[in-house]
Amino acid sequence: MTIAVFSAKPYDRRYFTAANAARGHRLSFHEERLTPETARLAHGSETVCAFVNDRLDAGVLARLAAGGTRLIALRSAGYNHVDLVAAAALGLTVVYVPGYSPHAVAEHTVALLLTLNRRIHQAHARVRRGDFSLDGLMGFDLEGKTFGLVGTGRIGTITGRIMQGFGCRVLACDPFPSDEAREAGFVFCELDELLARSDVVSLHCPLVPATRHLINATTLERMKPGATLLNTSRGGLIDTPATIAAIESGQLGRLGLDVYENEAGFFYEDHSAGPLADETLARLIALPNVLVTGHQGFLTHEALGNIAETTLKSVDDFAAGRPCPLALRPPDARSA
Ligand code: NAI
Repeated sequence: MTIAVFSAKPYDRRYFTAANAARGHRLSFHEERLTPETARLAHGSETVCAFVNDRLDAGVLARLAAGGTRLIALRSAGYNHVDLVAAAALGLTVVYVPGYSPHAVAEHTVALLLTLNRRIHQAHARVRRGDFSLDGLMGFDLEGKTFGLVGTGRIGTITGRIMQGFGCRVLACDPFPSDEAREAGFVFCELDELLARSDVVSLHCPLVPATRHLINATTLERMKPGATLLNTSRGGLIDTPATIAAIESGQLGRLGLDVYENEAGFFYEDHSAGPLADETLARLIALPNVLVTGHQGFLTHEALGNIAETTLKSVDDFAAGRPCPLALRPPDARSA
């Protein structure tokens, strides 16, 4: 099949080319993000391969379908950026890649926590300029602390298990906890209790209408004063201005983010030549007890290999007319 790969970085090119070697699909890599303006680049491509900040709203999907696209192959676990109802109406099949390496994201979450807590980023900058003073680098022991998981799917459960290894008590909330999460020994409770009792709160649920701004001025008030908040899931789970206010007032002690609600157009690109054209992001980055990475939780050798292999396996199935086990259905069809 012909596959137009959008938002393609050198690592995408490398891993997809390797996974395609024995397959022979025709890949065309486009550095551009998929938008209404760039959708024309996919003209004639039966498959469009998209990433997290590509636009897949009804308008873009209609343009793709008109250009001959039949399959949207997301190379991501999240699919909140796709209008699945519009895709179904246009006869487009949408596949995704769940669980390509939940360890990659869970380990990145813990890396954010350890860096923030022990201020490794600040210590590293100091030592490099010959400053070996310790003022302002105080952290806390994780042993004996309470770690709150919001969402106990693939990534949340692994994150909770890692934190148990640090000697943390793990509280969890999830409307649909898996058997694995129940067997892990997490203590399940309601969100409000989790927020009130946790020293660290980590978000691992999907972004859907019910979870948009799950962390807002009201829920931030319910958190333990001085607690740490981590978000490696989707930026829209957090009301960013309210969270900045909580950091500035001291209600929130530390904030570790791999995602940001307006990240599209900033993340994955180099904007270092001039001032950042997003005041909220600029304020976040400037705060000493905030650590932001640019949506890189997935960026491991294992995860990229699995993403390319799983995506192309779905393309193989689609091309051969076989059922696609990783096809997404619109919300109504899922609940039916
Ligand atoms: P998953 O589908 O395995 O687990 C999500 C869990 O959240 C489910 O158990 C579900 O019942 C639960 N949930 C749904 N609504 C909830 C609510 N209101 N409160 C609490 N829990 C709720 O998903 P997975 O693979 O663990 O991914 C989690 C998130 O991580 C996704 O949002 C995904 O987009 C994000 N992600 C981020 C990456 C990164 O590079 N930073 C890479 C991969 C995924």
